[in-house]
Amino acid sequence: MKYKISFIKPNFPSSDEIVADYSEIVSSNWFTNFGPKEQSFSKKSAQFISSDVYATTIANCTLGIESAIAELLKGDRKKVLLPSFTFAAGAEAILRSGFEPLFIDVDRKSWQPNIEQAEQILTESDDIAGILLCNVFGVGNTNITEWEKLASKFAKPLIIDSAAGFGSKYFDEEKVGTRGDCEIFSMHATKPFAIGEGGLVVSKNEKLIRRIREWQNFGFGTNRQVQQIGTNAKLQEINAAIGLRQLDKFDERLKGRRATLKLYKQLLKTDKYSFQQNDENSTVPFASVVLASQDHAAAARKALAEAGVEARQYYEPLHLQALLSRYVDPAVNLEATEFIASRIISLPVHDNMDEKDVQYIAKVIRDHEV
Ligand SMILES: Cc1ncc(COP(=O)(O)O)c(C=O)c1O
Repeated sequence: MKYKISFIKPNFPSSDEIVADYSEIVSSNWFTNFGPKEQSFSKKSAQFISSDVYATTIANCTLGIESAIAELLKGDRKKVLLPSFTFAAGAEAILRSGFEPLFIDVDRKSWQPNIEQAEQILTESDDIAGILLCNVFGVGNTNITEWEKLASKFAKPLIIDSAAGFGSKYFDEEKVGTRGDCEIFSMHATKPFAIGEGGLVVSKNEKLIRRIREWQNFGFGTNRQVQQIGTNAKLQEINAAIGLRQLDKFDERLKGRRATLKLYKQLLKTDKYSFQQNDENSTVPFASVVLASQDHAAAARKALAEAGVEARQYYEPLHLQALLSRYVDPAVNLEATEFIASRIISLPVHDNMDEKDVQYIAKVIRDHEV
């Protein structure tokens, strides 16, 4: 179905720019396997986040999570804590790595994983291998220091899925990408920072990043012998070239996205609407709003579709999905996840969105208040 206002509108380099990059790649005769574009893009992405992190590209965020699990989760413990209110990739990476997800709830206000519940589980269970924290919707969790303390108290690795958050900030002066054992980003075409398919693993631990570079190249060490059981998850030169071009324009695009979110918030300002804590410092992949009632949410979703607006209902909680529901621990309360998921609407955000479109969308939602 063709919408009048699409949910996302990726901005890619022009065909002339891509042709120029491709010519360089052909001249260098180096198409993949950590070529000059990839090396430069890994380095510049790390610098974009902070002067004290290391980074490696990877084929996508899902494989980035798998690589971190392979490097960090050791021993016989089977379960990995992660919020049910996230995208399926994390749970799938956990299962494909031979562990099991243990779903936890989110906090009603921040929509971020519930730290008190995590602490209780860690206190009571002896079977937790690690934590896959998610920066929900790419928004930096302002409780991040408490999470680091918790992980350290129980000696558990803290892997952070920050998929949409390349460019988000935890606090005014600190970008997402600097915390936990490592953070993983997606650079999928649908993300604010898009290169097609691609991901990035970032850490203060240089050795971890080196190991993940080996892991994604069949586990080969410098002598091209298998040093660990890895896989093939490298990023191609052409995607890295796109990434280098995207970096140049990204700050400006982020400003546009944040201005759009601000306008949505101004137009939906009553107690019938709540937005996520710290979303103003995020990359704003879309604008998510929780409505006061399920009836209003259902009416607004229907009205938006009829008005030609493509909105989404992120996330479909993992614990409610048939194939994943078998991992639910009935003792763990997931009430806030269900509350938020049944009332949320994710609204379109583009790099340079017309204010009139935002006003139109907000009016459709307000006109269907119940
Ligand atoms: C929270 C989260 N994690 C992981 C992913 C997977 O990213 P990729 O498509 O780069 O594997 C996504 C993609 O939307 C996501 O939203």
